[in-house]
Amino acid sequence: MAQLPNSLEARDTAFQLHSYADARRQEETGALVIDKGDGIYVEDINGKRYIEGMAGLWSVAVGFGEKRLVEAAVRQMEKLPYYHTFTYKTHGPSIELAEKLVEMAPVPMSKAYFTNSGSEANDTAIKLIWYRSNALGQPERKKIISRMRGYHGVTIASASLTGLPNNHRSFDLPLPQILHTTSPHYRTMKKDGESEADFAKRCAQDLEDLILSEGPETIAAFFAEPVMGAGGVVVPPDGYWEAVQPVLKKYDILFVADEVICGFGRTGNMFGTQTYNLQPDMMTLSKALSSSYQPISALLINDKVYQPIADESHKIGVLGHGYTGSGHPVAAAVALENLKIIEERDLVGHVKAIAPTFQKRLAGLAENPLVIETRGIGLIGAAELTHEALAATPGALGAKTNAMFHEKGLISRNMLDAMAFCPPLIITEAQVNEMFDIAEAGLKAVQDSM
Ligand SMILES: Cc1ncc(COP(=O)(O)O)c(C=O)c1O
Repeated sequence: MAQLPNSLEARDTAFQLHSYADARRQEETGALVIDKGDGIYVEDINGKRYIEGMAGLWSVAVGFGEKRLVEAAVRQMEKLPYYHTFTYKTHGPSIELAEKLVEMAPVPMSKAYFTNSGSEANDTAIKLIWYRSNALGQPERKKIISRMRGYHGVTIASASLTGLPNNHRSFDLPLPQILHTTSPHYRTMKKDGESEADFAKRCAQDLEDLILSEGPETIAAFFAEPVMGAGGVVVPPDGYWEAVQPVLKKYDILFVADEVICGFGRTGNMFGTQTYNLQPDMMTLSKALSSSYQPISALLINDKVYQPIADESHKIGVLGHGYTGSGHPVAAAVALENLKIIEERDLVGHVKAIAPTFQKRLAGLAENPLVIETRGIGLIGAAELTHEALAATPGALGAKTNAMFHEKGLISRNMLDAMAFCPPLIITEAQVNEMFDIAEAGLKAVQDSM
């Protein structure tokens, strides 16, 4: 990318450190400057249009340029641009959103607690779980289990939950209280001759073995995404959740469903919890909650979690936790309007209706010899690539394909060599075909160049 002096690209390189980038490479190549968005499309400052095949970061459910969200923000800005929810103060938008989320929850929930990002929601979940263990007189019950390849964020605690090496390496993570069990990715984790059903059972057995070796009385909670997202879109094998959940119940371990990507329609139900018949005690929500038009996230807790926390805060005199932006009125107002749009336009029904086309086209990518596996559910999926020439450098083929997709007008994201697809939920069937036509052409161009 050209970096003319004083161009936006050059100023970006001069002043901004990017997330998930190689800073030295960034100094040389600069970044793509996105200027505007409309529906499923975004446009860069040179006027080139792209299908945003990732909905930003798995998040812009209602598409770019939704005027109702802009108007909701303006209305709230004019009325009360900021207020907090500390001490004994509150405001209308946070109350309405808390009530709405508790009502929408697919399993009984008691309270909503607001944060500003998925990472903070998971971080807060860990703090409240520890607080609860102390409240229950079980100070030894502090260990938390998550899964290899799970993604739960980047704060010190949530990055520790995340089961990806680059989120730990050189950060001195994970924290010692956080343990990782087997990733549910059948193709890479199965043993020779192991069926998918046996693999699912073994995942549950691995979890139980870990609990027993650590001491069940020391394990407080298990965190998992219903479908893994940033770890490469890993759809659990059949029977996985049916085998895992009884293990948690057996040892009275809290289950935190990280619905940050799955929540609000992505898997073809309002929540991934419904798609897989989960019984979480806590749920973390963000991204499609506001379609990322405003930073906001929420943690839902059931009564089993809430009651001891309430007792402890009473004993101490205060729940010593909170963010200046918790339940921010503008973010809450935008989230409420966004949820209204999701319901009014029946985007969940829409996902159900077009998911078969999406999944058929995704599976069709496997006709290209670079693709060794496709996997997905609802409107989320990935195509895993491999080629012997690049096998020694994981991620190189993915990066090359990503660049080719960009050239052809599609924004995907390579997680190493898995190309992810997670478009805005408003995408039409014709646009799904347009997206996968570009992906097919991009893969062919990469294949021809090898
Ligand atoms: C499942 C899941 N949990 C948590 C997070 C962290 O959210 P944030 O980036 O808002 O901190 C993400 C972000 O991609 C996610 O996908």
